[in-house]
Amino acid sequence: MSSRKSIIVHGGAGRGPTGPTGERQGVLDRAAAEGLRGRSAVDMVERAIRILEDHPIFDAGTGAVLTLDGGCELDACLMTHDGRVGAVAGLRRTRYPISVARAVMEKTDHHLLVGAGATRFARLMGHPDHDPRTPERLTAWRRLRDDLRRGRDGPDFRFWKRMARWQKAYGLFETVGACAIDERGRFVAATSTGGIWMKLPGRVGDTPIPGAGTCANPFGAISMTGHGEGVMRHCLGRHAVELMRRMSCQAALDATAKHALAHGVECGIIGVDRRGRLGRANTAKWMQVGKAGA
Ligand code: GLY
Repeated sequence: MSSRKSIIVHGGAGRGPTGPTGERQGVLDRAAAEGLRGRSAVDMVERAIRILEDHPIFDAGTGAVLTLDGGCELDACLMTHDGRVGAVAGLRRTRYPISVARAVMEKTDHHLLVGAGATRFARLMGHPDHDPRTPERLTAWRRLRDDLRRGRDGPDFRFWKRMARWQKAYGLFETVGACAIDERGRFVAATSTGGIWMKLPGRVGDTPIPGAGTCANPFGAISMTGHGEGVMRHCLGRHAVELMRRMSCQAALDATAKHALAHGVECGIIGVDRRGRLGRANTAKWMQVGKAGA
């Protein structure tokens, strides 16, 4: 088992970046460097993700994308190589969902808290209320809402199909994630997201579902970005870490991306295996990552 400490982070994947790639790369590199300063693998991923949650260009924490009714619903998850899990879904007013997910893992007997109960728990853990909506996201939301109102379908369930087409046109998923291994060979996966633009209130994607967008087992850990329904439907996270039983991290991620592509899932994936090897793969055209310590 490797004793080298290392971390890899992502900030989404898609057809191309919405903003300058230089600025985005700078934040990813800073998050990876900050993560490397953590004492344990759990500290490492939490430190890195908090930097990304605070930066408004990513779809996590402050700057998360908005739901159909103009709110934010934030999901996050942490999973360790030895089977510990903490996750939250549907947090509306929290600055650091990843830290609330960590508290679920460390301070409760549960794995996943949602909605009002998750918000109550966050407050109990000392997280003050915070509105993650930025002026830029609210402007984009108003434009999307007006487009929707001008549509001919009317307010019925076909909205969702239309949203799926818009998301394809929009072509960018800006979920954030981190995978790290510490000097004692412990490794962890973590992911945080606001989900997808104009999602129906109450929709939960792959991020907080262990085995979907976030997964770890004794062989490796992965974090995913992309279209949550596809990632969830094909249990891509679990698929990747199971392959690490007999393959290197990179080979497992390449095989998982091939599997995702065969099922038409637009996504990106990062990971670390038990020997400390980092990897990345994407079926989406573009994905930027930051690394430190490898
Ligand atoms: N991959 C993030 C989501 O679909 O919610």
